[in-house]
Amino acid sequence: MSATAKKLLVDIHTHVYLPRYASLLRSRSSVPKICSVTTSDGTPQERLLILNHEPSGGRPVGPQYWDREEKLKFMDRHGIDVSIVSTANPWLDFLSAPDAQTLASELNNDLEQYCSTSPRTSSGNYSIKRLYGFGLLPLVPEITTSAVLDTVNQIAQLPHLRGLIMGTKGIGKGLDDAALDPVWDAIEKAQLVVFLHPHYGVNAEVWGEVNNGHVLPLALGFPFETTIAATRVILSGVLDRFPSLRLLLAHSGGALPALSSRLASCIDHDPIVASRLKHDARYYLGKLYLDAVAYGPEELGFAILNRSIGSKRMLFGTDHPFFPPLTSTEKWKSVVENLEAIDRVQGWSREDIDGVCGANALALFNLTQ
Ligand code: URA
Ligand code: ZN
Repeated sequence: MSATAKKLLVDIHTHVYLPRYASLLRSRSSVPKICSVTTSDGTPQERLLILNHEPSGGRPVGPQYWDREEKLKFMDRHGIDVSIVSTANPWLDFLSAPDAQTLASELNNDLEQYCSTSPRTSSGNYSIKRLYGFGLLPLVPEITTSAVLDTVNQIAQLPHLRGLIMGTKGIGKGLDDAALDPVWDAIEKAQLVVFLHPHYGVNAEVWGEVNNGHVLPLALGFPFETTIAATRVILSGVLDRFPSLRLLLAHSGGALPALSSRLASCIDHDPIVASRLKHDARYYLGKLYLDAVAYGPEELGFAILNRSIGSKRMLFGTDHPFFPPLTSTEKWKSVVENLEAIDRVQGWSREDIDGVCGANALALFNLTQ
């Protein structure tokens, strides 16, 4: 790359409900669903209800959630050159095995089309598409391993899909289920990045009875779910058996960076687990990738410092189209805050910042090839 090459800003945490998926949600009468309501001033509105104990009648949704032109406009407005787009939660979790298998394949093809027909951007001596994607696997109870493996192969052959987004349930027993070993094996061999993303949070009873909107499930429930799922992956030895597996954790890994030494100590003192793993728990943290969706410089710095994660394993994200501003503004606060946080991490050099903003994603997803 030439010295003057433009530094690309790459968003690796950005979602879509593809039109086929949004139609399915509109056809449903139970959660997850999109329903039509009329607001108190008589305006028709669509609302998205995806959580089991969805507060406040869900969230208003519009074209930002499914229209590719809206994604590109959002990117332009925030100076984002490239996005690696993923289907938003709850993916295929609520479907029967045959329906999940069919829809996974259709949505993977839809996303490939969404990306492959996107405009290009260039930097130095390469030119790449502005949109790439994470595919979906039919990870639901009663799915056969061969159906999941077929979908891993499908994703691996779609040139603009560079990974897959995965929830925390696996095929019903979570991500420490030994039945997933052939799936981890295939993903590792195909060199696909696994984006581990929450949906279920924690038991809603712990949120009490006061109406706090979506604050508790999103601020705490989501990252706690990711923390538990990633810890179970570590404890099950998946990262010993599949050392080249690349796991990218949503929301900067939740509470895992803050709890890693406690986790290591609990393992060391547990007669059942102490001799199970090849390494100290903190070693596995150093093998993970984290998004930079934490909104504060202290949190970003903390997530990678002293855990051998290093800034090279952290990548900018927006969580678009979630967290829109409550009153209309040119730029979204949720995006501006994440960029400012990256800029202000104590001790980060220009190279660290440029890496987190784009260079790390270009390398991880092999985008310049
Ligand atoms: N971000 C997401 O990805 N999903 C939600 O449901 C809310 C915020
Ligand atoms: Zn998200």
